[in-house]
Amino acid sequence: MTVKTMHTPEVKELLNKVAGLDQSGGNDRVKQIVHRLVHDIFQIVEDFDVTPEEFWSAVYYVSGLGQNGEAALLAPGLGMDHYLDIRMDAEDAEAGRTGGTPRTIEGPLYVAGAPISDGFARMDDGSEDAETLIITGQVTDERGQPIADAVVDIWHANTQGTYSYFDPSQSEYNLRRRIRTDAEGRYTARSIVPSGYGCPPEGSTQQLLNLLGRHGQRPAHIHYFISSPGHRHLTTQINLAGDEYTFDDFAFATREELVVEANRIEDPSQAEQYGLNGPFTKLVFDVQLVATDAAELQERHPRQRALEGESA
Ligand code: DHB
Ligand code: FE
Repeated sequence: MTVKTMHTPEVKELLNKVAGLDQSGGNDRVKQIVHRLVHDIFQIVEDFDVTPEEFWSAVYYVSGLGQNGEAALLAPGLGMDHYLDIRMDAEDAEAGRTGGTPRTIEGPLYVAGAPISDGFARMDDGSEDAETLIITGQVTDERGQPIADAVVDIWHANTQGTYSYFDPSQSEYNLRRRIRTDAEGRYTARSIVPSGYGCPPEGSTQQLLNLLGRHGQRPAHIHYFISSPGHRHLTTQINLAGDEYTFDDFAFATREELVVEANRIEDPSQAEQYGLNGPFTKLVFDVQLVATDAAELQERHPRQRALEGESA
């Protein structure tokens, strides 16, 4: 079928009415965006000669995506979170806010209000028979001056690649902690080596990825929010070197500067330093924050997050 209807007055009028352009009430920005969005969907139907059967299967796909709570899981897989990062990087470059540790996506699995402590935290609840991981580093400004009392908010998956709260079999706030840096800007966490993450195999996200011939895997990774008054809030994560997916992340979060080696430490004196009595794995992630006076840049951007806004 080769019929073309998008140029007709009938479709133009329909789009105007759909977006409320003939009404005085409502929100102009929403009207403009909905007009474009529906126009582009119509255009896709025309250009690809989408059949009614295909159209309705897409509608019910979106419905299912919402029902299993996967919309915010699919977005990173479609590169949307990374695209927002590309825009924020470009904005920073234009404003001369260069340098500092690079940002990368937050992902959909943060939970607000993790326990907070000074200098050190143990992150795992001891329930898994897993390799101990020491995560440590220093937070500085661009001139290398240590930043004391920065809040380092860390979260990661367990050995099954699942996150507490979203995986109700884990204890509350397992593998989620906030650590205030000490006078030298240092933070240390005792945790366990995480496994890579995979999208729920029967879920909507994986269903679409299958049709794209793509996998839904992420390398083993550790998420960070780092904030300190007078500095730009940093949302980032590290990907562990040597994982099959380190440079093949379905969520496009890998950045060269954020690939970190986790090394096995056999030296008993190092183990003792961390109160451990055997070999362990250690990684160092130092963070550079960029100074800014702009209050809105000092906080993470607003978005819906688990338990955010509740007393914690
Ligand atoms: C997804 C999961 C993650 O753990 C993450 O960091 C980013 C994205 C996801 O399921 O889309
Ligand atoms: Fe993650």
